[in-house]
Parts: sequence; C-alpha cells; structure tokens
Amino acid sequence: MRQAAEILRRGGLVAFPTETVYGLGARAEDDAAVRRIYRVKGRPSDNPLIVHVDGPQALARITRRPTALARRLIAAFWPGPLTLVMERAPGTLRAASGGLKTIAVRCPAHPVALQLIRALGEPIAAPSANISGRPSPTTAAHVDRDLHGRIPLILDGGSCQRGLESAIVDVRGSRPKLLRHGVLTPAEITRAAGMPLALPGPDSPSVPGARHRHYAPSCRVTLVSTSDIRRGGLAKLSALGSGLLHRTSFGGPTPAFRRRVSGGVDAYARSLFAALRDAEKAGIRVLFVETVSDRGIGRAVMDRLRRAAAP
Ligand code: TXA
Ligand code: MG
Repeated sequence: MRQAAEILRRGGLVAFPTETVYGLGARAEDDAAVRRIYRVKGRPSDNPLIVHVDGPQALARITRRPTALARRLIAAFWPGPLTLVMERAPGTLRAASGGLKTIAVRCPAHPVALQLIRALGEPIAAPSANISGRPSPTTAAHVDRDLHGRIPLILDGGSCQRGLESAIVDVRGSRPKLLRHGVLTPAEITRAAGMPLALPGPDSPSVPGARHRHYAPSCRVTLVSTSDIRRGGLAKLSALGSGLLHRTSFGGPTPAFRRRVSGGVDAYARSLFAALRDAEKAGIRVLFVETVSDRGIGRAVMDRLRRAAAP
C-alpha cells in the first residue's frame, strides 16, 4: 500500500480493486499522470474519467456545492456503486474531466480502494483497468492480461463483489438523470431520490464513453433468447469453435466452451465480464450469450451485452 501511494505521488499508475470492477488509478490532480491513463488504455481523449474519493468531505475542493439531490443520494449510497456528475470547481481536475465543466465522482465500497485513497491523501482518477473497448476486469489477472508491462503495480483484492460498473447519475438539477445503467437499479435510485428518474433514451448516449464500441472480447458475441436455449435449437453450436454462456439449462450439442451461471440475474451480472474473458481464452470464434429481461439489474447487463455484440 505504501509503495502504491508512492507510485501515485510520483505520477505513476496503479491498478486497484473496487466493489464494481478494477480501476486504473492516477493522482486526479496530476494532469500528466491522468494523460498517461489515456495512453496506456488507448482511450479516446473525449471520454472523461471518474474521480474516486474516500467520502463526501472530499467534494469541497473539487466540486461546487452539492445540490440537495446529490446530498440525498450520497447519504443513501456512498460508499457504493453510484457515480455522481456534478459541477466541477474551476481550476481543478482539468485532464480527468476531459475539459468538461462537470466531473464524475464516486466513493468506492472496497477497503483496498479506500485505503489507497487515504494513503495518497487525495482523490484518484480511475477508469476501468482494461484496454479500451475490452470487457472490464473483475480480477487482478484480467488487469494483468490487458496491461502487463505497461503499469508498475496491481493491487490484488480478489474477485470484484458486484462485477459490473457503477450507475452514473447527473445530480446538477432538482431531478436525477440516469446517464449510465449500473449495478444500482433505476428503482433503487428512484426510491432514495424520492422522485422519478429521467432515463437515457436507447439512441441518445448521454455519457461520452457510450459512443464507443465496448466490452467486446476477441471472439464474436451473438445474443440468443431464453426460448432459443429451451428449445435446444442452437444447431450452430456444434459448429467448430463456438461457445455458450447461459442461465437456463440446455440440452443441445456440447460446444467447445460452455459456462452456465445458475442463480439470479445478480450472479449473471457478477460473472459476465469474467465469462467473456474466459471464452476468449478458450480460443473460440463465436460466443452465444443468453439474454436476460431488461428489468432491474438486467437492464445494465443487457446494456453491456448489446454493446459487446455490436458489429
Ligand atoms: O464502477 C465504475 O464506475 C468503475 C470503477 C473503476 O469505479 N469505473 C468506470 O470507469 O467504469 P470508466 O472510465 O470505464 O467509465 C466512466 C464513464 C465513461 O462512460 C465516461 O464517459 C463517463 O463515465 N463520464 C466521466 N465523466 C463524465 C462527465 N463529467 N459527464 C458524463 N459522463 C462522464
Ligand atoms: Mg470502462
């Protein structure tokens, strides 16, 4: 931990676990270090980063006064998988914000992430610790696979508890606007806000990052419905080099790679990115993935899956 904080202090990068996915961190106020994150990830420069803090008291320096709505959501969900878009304090976080007037902030609920922010004594800017466009990493080994030799240190905190990224909510006005679906469901956010949530339209990406192709492993991803799986009618599965990720029991031909995740949609969300990476490692060419309903956390799962399957 001391070594990690020292690397950050000197402008270097450290990967660390959060409860959602692993992050690739730099000292948020160090513009040169933040630009290094973009280079290492191959991330388009118009896609700003999330700044990680150890609690709401850290906001005073980097944002304008939180709205009543922001305070309510912070009280309900921090530390936790909720990122807030707020007005940026002028003269701060230039590179991390991508030059926008706003800044995305969250307080992660992972002891290692919190310890690292406290050891540095300052906020840490961190996107997910994958090469841009690939599935987000949920273990230290995933980070190593993408970034080996490109960063000096990965803090290994085991598998991420939630496995899918935070929800992003714009809290600058009096009404919350959901900008990215995440492990916190719209219903949970609505309940805490005490008012309805404005949802992003299917064709209007509202976080800059949503414009880019994303979450894709090197194999092609093809979505299949639960009824396809039930019918066992996936004749294509017996084709050489195909795989299946599913929840529903399947009696069809045995593919080259097969992963069944039993349990609820939460469990499916938790193991989704790891399964995409395992399928890739198995060397298959096409991965068939069972879809889930768009309800609850299923909405965030389908958002990731549709983009992993996009041509
Ligand atoms: O769970 C998470 O949020 C993880 C962990 C590491 O905290 N982080 C994460 O970061 O998913 P990243 O960079 O993969 O996604 C951040 C998203 C991007 O889509 C970006 O466009 C959006 O946040 N974003 C950042 N700043 C923004 C802003 N000021 N306004 C709107 N969207 C913003
Ligand atoms: Mg990401």
